[in-house]
Amino acid sequence: MYYKNELKALKKSGRLRSREIVNNSILDFASNDYLGLSHNKELHNSTCQKLDKLPLHSSKASLLVNGYHQIHKDFETALCKANGFEDGVVLGSGFSANIAMIEALVRKGDILFMDEKYHASGVLATNIRHVEVEFFKHNDMDELKSLFAKFPHAKRKIIAVEGIYSMDGDLVDKEVFEIAEKEDALLIVDEAHSSGVVGDKLMGVFDLYNIDIKPNHIKMGTLGKAYGSFGAYILASEHVIEYLINRAKPIIYATSLSLYDTLLGHKSLEYILDNCEDLKEQIKLRQQIVKDILDVKVDGLIIPILIDDNKKVIEIKDSLLKEGFAIGGIRQPTVERAILRVIARLGQTDDELQELCRKIAKFR
Ligand SMILES: Cc1ncc(COP(=O)(O)O)c(C=O)c1O
Repeated sequence: MYYKNELKALKKSGRLRSREIVNNSILDFASNDYLGLSHNKELHNSTCQKLDKLPLHSSKASLLVNGYHQIHKDFETALCKANGFEDGVVLGSGFSANIAMIEALVRKGDILFMDEKYHASGVLATNIRHVEVEFFKHNDMDELKSLFAKFPHAKRKIIAVEGIYSMDGDLVDKEVFEIAEKEDALLIVDEAHSSGVVGDKLMGVFDLYNIDIKPNHIKMGTLGKAYGSFGAYILASEHVIEYLINRAKPIIYATSLSLYDTLLGHKSLEYILDNCEDLKEQIKLRQQIVKDILDVKVDGLIIPILIDDNKKVIEIKDSLLKEGFAIGGIRQPTVERAILRVIARLGQTDDELQELCRKIAKFR
């Protein structure tokens, strides 16, 4: 039996994972569908109607080989307009986007300064041979500044942070934008968990902090979370996007984003912009419930609850599942200390969130 010992070791340490088929009758406080758009049939139906009118339904090829369709271009244009960027490109997933950006943008002689809690896809990309990386303590801007002083010889300096961190749910420190400007560094912001959740127009942290978009800014957003679709986009200056299209392997050597996902992502963007005042109210209400019952202040819609025991996390998660609530149980090594990860998504009512928070409060 292949990998027998490895599997045994995982089991012994309480780290063995398995897939479970989603039970759609359970209340969902586990997925990253922050705004509940995955269940919005109007968005789905209008996407299908538009797709029906096209002479084809699949993107067929890479963006560079007859796979770049008008609907990709239209969505990129809309994303640029909503976020204030010059140019953009859509691609298969956030995971691919991180590989694309880090593998292509960090050249020999450059140094990448990455938050230690950056997503696994970005960390994986740092293992590519030519990528020189320095990790800094999570959200520690003083350490980031001291690293710049330590590596003055870098040809190009590139910082990589997340808008809202996927496990801790905290916001990136605003100071990172000033540091990037002062140090003339490229700044990559992975907005997987912040786009659609924070900001005046719900566009993410550039929007929240009211950042004037500059040529050193690069924003990545995913469509599989608040946008209720699948895929990702990178927004940047015209030069950076042109360079990525020419050098980033996940863009060049992969079939372009599916037409359905692109159209649905575009519909979701329009929906978010059209309904942002109401959505912001609903987000605020969820945050207040969590504060009142669990005494946890959250920046977005991710609620991390420290349990610090791999086995106990799974016991609590399973027990809540039996009561009809799906939440995330995140164990080592994904996080340093095991947590319950609750998503206060708008797809469930505020009453349902209150009920869940009261149950969790008892476990704590
Ligand atoms: C911070 C962050 N970046 C990137 C990704 C990958 O995005 P996708 O699911 O679109 O591949 C995730 C997904 O979990 C994430 O949490």
